[in-house]
Amino acid sequence: MSKTKSTFFCQSCGSQSSKWIGKCPSCGEWNSFVEEVISTGKKDVKAYAKGNKKPVPRPITDISLKKESRLGTGMAEFDRVLGGGMVAGSIILVGGEPGIGKSTLLLQMALNISNNRILYVSGEESASQLKMRADRIGIKNQDCIILNETSTNEIFRHIGDLEPGMVIIDSIQTLHTDVLESTAGSISQIRETASEFQKFAKTTNIPVVLIGHITKDGNIAGPKILEHMVDTVLNFEGDRHYGFRILRSVKNRFGSTSELGIFEMNNKGLREVSNPSELLLSQRDEDVSGVAIAAMIEGQRPMLVEVQALVGTAAYGTPQRSATGFDTRRMNMLLAVLEKRSGYKVSTKDVFLNIAGGIRVDDPAIDLAVIASVISSAEDVPIGNNICFAAELGLSGEIRAVSRTDSRIGEADKLGFEKIIVSKYSMRGIDIKNFSIEIITVANITEMTDNLF
Ligand code: TYD
Ligand code: MG
Repeated sequence: MSKTKSTFFCQSCGSQSSKWIGKCPSCGEWNSFVEEVISTGKKDVKAYAKGNKKPVPRPITDISLKKESRLGTGMAEFDRVLGGGMVAGSIILVGGEPGIGKSTLLLQMALNISNNRILYVSGEESASQLKMRADRIGIKNQDCIILNETSTNEIFRHIGDLEPGMVIIDSIQTLHTDVLESTAGSISQIRETASEFQKFAKTTNIPVVLIGHITKDGNIAGPKILEHMVDTVLNFEGDRHYGFRILRSVKNRFGSTSELGIFEMNNKGLREVSNPSELLLSQRDEDVSGVAIAAMIEGQRPMLVEVQALVGTAAYGTPQRSATGFDTRRMNMLLAVLEKRSGYKVSTKDVFLNIAGGIRVDDPAIDLAVIASVISSAEDVPIGNNICFAAELGLSGEIRAVSRTDSRIGEADKLGFEKIIVSKYSMRGIDIKNFSIEIITVANITEMTDNLF
């Protein structure tokens, strides 16, 4: 007779215990242990495992390196994030908040790939819902096969019949395996089903994409263990109120993690954005005060963003400070430096700051544009929409160099800006003859304000 075994798992970090405990010793979470059946004694039989040779130990120098073959996704932005396409036999996890567009992204990819059968397994949506989405995207592709199934045994059986070139699972939280009795979405199910697909990908050389939901605190639900098991972790993020979406690589065994792909969600699915600045700069004809353009870098890509500030006299005792898309504490620090080092009185003013386009910026090179937009609004003097900024501000009011100033200048130049203000200390090794834009170098905050206002 088969024996049922069960154990307790922390639902927040995935650690295991043979008995129930109130507080997780590894992540400190309270009341997170849940009993899960891990084995019912049944043996799991995998159809795909046949012909699998046992590995033998050998010196690293004897291992011949095959150039990994990569499968293009038909989307240049996606390929870029993966490091030039999907590696055969790799397993990729795409995470993101509900409703951000993960299913749309992967269905669109499946529809884009031609002459290769792609199996899209959905446990979340019905076939007709997927059909509706495909109609919106507007691509017809016979090789895109839809399967509504959540049992891994059944999925592997269909894979055996269909022999697809890639498998997409939407989502890992809906899968369950017959070897375990716990419910779909529990830690042990996620761990087991993901490892079945990992083994599948490695033995058959067929790439697998797993879609995973992200919890409120930004973790892929069904813990960190998933991230260790897969080759690549991609995060799909963006502000739901804007069309702008960023696909970011968090872990990649076959490429750089500083790459990112940019998309725009419109009524025909996702559009690839090869020139992000076009989306981030708002179109306007006349000059308005309180607006400054910063040349920032996200991942490997330079892009221009618009910083908007509104400075007004505080109506009540304590002035209000708020920032959207920018760290409020950093804004307060910049305002303190501005007040102390250049004499602009902002301590009695309300200051509101906004990064246009709904993105969040952490690049310190945006400091100078923040300061410029604040002064511009306080003084009600427009900066002019042909100038941009790229430098960090130090506590003593010095303008500091930032990384890759040359690509920032290049991007501004390409987009037809006439002037860029950078730190005096960031011009080493940069040949100004390469650019037609006028480069203004400044060493401290007063030099900058003298130059502008
Ligand atoms: P979806 O891919 O279902 O998100 P996820 O799988 O991450 O939960 O995306 C759903 C959102 O995208 C939904 O709010 C509608 C929107 N959308 C468009 O705006 N245009 C489109 O062409 C499609 C297909 C979806
Ligand atoms: Mg979905």
